[in-house]
Amino acid sequence: MSATAKKTAPLPDDIRAMKGGVPIVSLTAYTTPMAQLLDPHCDLVLVGDSVGMVLHGLPSTLGVTLGMMILHGQAVRRGLSRAMMVVDLPFGSYEESPAQAFRTAARVMAETGAGAVKLEGGRGMAETIAFLAARGVPVMAHVGLTPQSINTLGGYRVQGRGAAADAILADARAVAEAGAFAVVLEKVPARLADRITAEVAIPTIGIGASSGCDGQILVVDDMLGLFTAFRPKFAKRYATLGDDAEKAVEAYAAEVRARAFPAAEHVFGDDAPGATS
Ligand code: KIV
Repeated sequence: MSATAKKTAPLPDDIRAMKGGVPIVSLTAYTTPMAQLLDPHCDLVLVGDSVGMVLHGLPSTLGVTLGMMILHGQAVRRGLSRAMMVVDLPFGSYEESPAQAFRTAARVMAETGAGAVKLEGGRGMAETIAFLAARGVPVMAHVGLTPQSINTLGGYRVQGRGAAADAILADARAVAEAGAFAVVLEKVPARLADRITAEVAIPTIGIGASSGCDGQILVVDDMLGLFTAFRPKFAKRYATLGDDAEKAVEAYAAEVRARAFPAAEHVFGDDAPGATS
């Protein structure tokens, strides 16, 4: 059964229990209206630090602040009643020590109502994940391409090809053993994603990974065609809302210049005092 068939938001254990079952449906969201749109259809909604690139025009996720994540987390929370909300911990807010990660995660959960946090990293973050899990912070891990590390990974390239596969598998094993309830696999070869899915006990949520993962996630602005600065191969477009918006704005500008807008039905008469139409 999909976790969205439940009346209340799934807990991390409900997501964990979806391992090997009907695939987990997840998307990112950053605003209340988008969260409302996704809520009936998603098991899990991620307030991703992709918000920096998608909504704030940043060149990468490295400039995203904790304040931005909390503000967008609060907005998304107001739009959800059925899907679980997970909030990304931004770069620099958790890597220094498990204690720093706990302080950040506790603030995110208290101020946004998030049911869990996501952080990037494999073996190097296992100690932190165990520390958080032991103190009431459910963690979704993220291995493979971890965008907060583009400067050490050498860009947004596929991770885990050839001999590098073993390292990604070891990362996934480590975060599962540390107590993460799910793990995002980003931009890894499909065969490796399938192997990790078969070998780790927690659900794998793929983005640029494999249809064999236990779930999928996409950046919502990518799949709706709202973010057009660039398009990763894995970001299937299910709509072209950016093109539609451009046409709408073009039509508005033309009508304003031609005095065709506002028309009679958009303006008010002066013959009915107190009337609103
Ligand atoms: O920030 C984000 O949107 C993410 C997803 C791509 C998994 O981490």
